[in-house]
Amino acid sequence: MAKISPQPAQPFFAQALLDWYPRHRRDLPWRHTQDPYAIWLSEIILQQTRVQQGLPYYERFLAAYPTVQDLAAAPEQEVLRLWQGLGYYSRARNLRHTAQQVVNEYGGQFPNTYAELLKLRGVGPYTAAAIASFAFGERVAVLDGNVYRVLSRVFGITTDIAQPAARKEFQQLADQLISHENPADYNQASMEFGAIQCTPVNPDCLFCPVREQCFAFQHGMVHQLPVKSKAKAARTRYFHYLVLRHGEQVYLRQRSGKDIWHSLYDFHLLETPAAELPAQALLTELAQLGAEVITDQVSEPAVLMRHALSHQKVEARFHELWLAAPLSTSALQRAGLAAYAATQLDGLPKPVIITNYLEQKAII
Ligand code: ADE
Repeated sequence: MAKISPQPAQPFFAQALLDWYPRHRRDLPWRHTQDPYAIWLSEIILQQTRVQQGLPYYERFLAAYPTVQDLAAAPEQEVLRLWQGLGYYSRARNLRHTAQQVVNEYGGQFPNTYAELLKLRGVGPYTAAAIASFAFGERVAVLDGNVYRVLSRVFGITTDIAQPAARKEFQQLADQLISHENPADYNQASMEFGAIQCTPVNPDCLFCPVREQCFAFQHGMVHQLPVKSKAKAARTRYFHYLVLRHGEQVYLRQRSGKDIWHSLYDFHLLETPAAELPAQALLTELAQLGAEVITDQVSEPAVLMRHALSHQKVEARFHELWLAAPLSTSALQRAGLAAYAATQLDGLPKPVIITNYLEQKAII
C-alpha cells in the first residue's frame, strides 16, 4: 500500500505558497545548490544583510573558498578582509571557526540533521532549519522576520514578536503548516512571500493568493500586524581617533576585548562621554605616547564620520597628527600600535568608517 503522508493543519496555506513560489521567486544562486556548505555560507551572510548587498559577498566567498576545507584553512585576517563592509564581524570569525569545527569534528561533512546542525557555532534555530530543509529535505520550518509577519497577518496572531516567548508559538504554528511533500520549497516560499508580496509597509493584498483566508485582510488589520514593540533607543558613543603619522607611516592597532569591531584595525582611540575632546585629555594622551607633534599641521578641523550599529551609534572624529619622530617601541607596545606604510593598509580588515576616512584623505 502506498505510504500516505500526514497533511499540514492548514493545507490551503502550504499549497498557496507552493503555487505562488515558482511564479514569483527571485533567481538567487544559493537556490541552485543542495551543497550544505554553500547554503550555510549564504544564510550566515544574509543574516542582518539585504539580498542585494549579500550577493557579491556570497560569490566572492565561494570563489575564494570553494569548499569548507578551504575556508577552515584560511587565515582569520583574510576572512575578515573579505567580510569587510558586512558588519557584525563576529559572524565572520564564527564562520571560520565553524568551518574548522566541520573539518575537525565531522570529517569535513556538514551534519545532516537539524539537531546536529544546532551544535555548530553561529548556527541558531533559523540557520539550522534553513540548512536542514534546503540541503537535506528535513521538515522543520524556518522563522525569520518575513515569516513572522506573514503568519501573524494570515492567522491573526497578536503576540509581540519582539518578545523571545513569541518564537515558541510561531514555531509551533509554522511546523504545523509546513508542506510534508516539499519542505524545502515551502520554507523558501514562506520567506520569499514575506520579502516580496506580504511586505511590511505596502503589501500587495490586491493580488494575494491567501487574502480570502487572511485574518488581517479580512479585519482591516494589515497595518497593525505583526505587533512588534520598539527596541530602546541606541546610545551614542563619541570616538576620537588620533591618526598618528610620521613620514610614510601611519599607526594603527588591532582591536581586542569585548567591544565592537573585535580584531579589526583602527587608530589610537580616545572615547569621551560627549562630542568634544578636552584639550587636556589630548595633551595627556600625547605625553603618555611620548608623541612630539609638529604643531603647524594640527590645525585642520577633525573629520567626522557616523556609523549606526544595532544597539549603538558611533560618532567618530579623526584628528590627524603629524609626528616629529617615530613613536618609541615601548610606547607602541603600551598602546598596542604598529606602524604601517600606506600600501599595507588595504590588506588590513577595518571598520567601514576607517576605510572611508582613509579614502577621503587619499591615504589609500
Ligand atoms: N534571506 C535569508 N535567507 C534567504 C534565502 N534563502 N533566500 C532569500 N533571502 C534570504
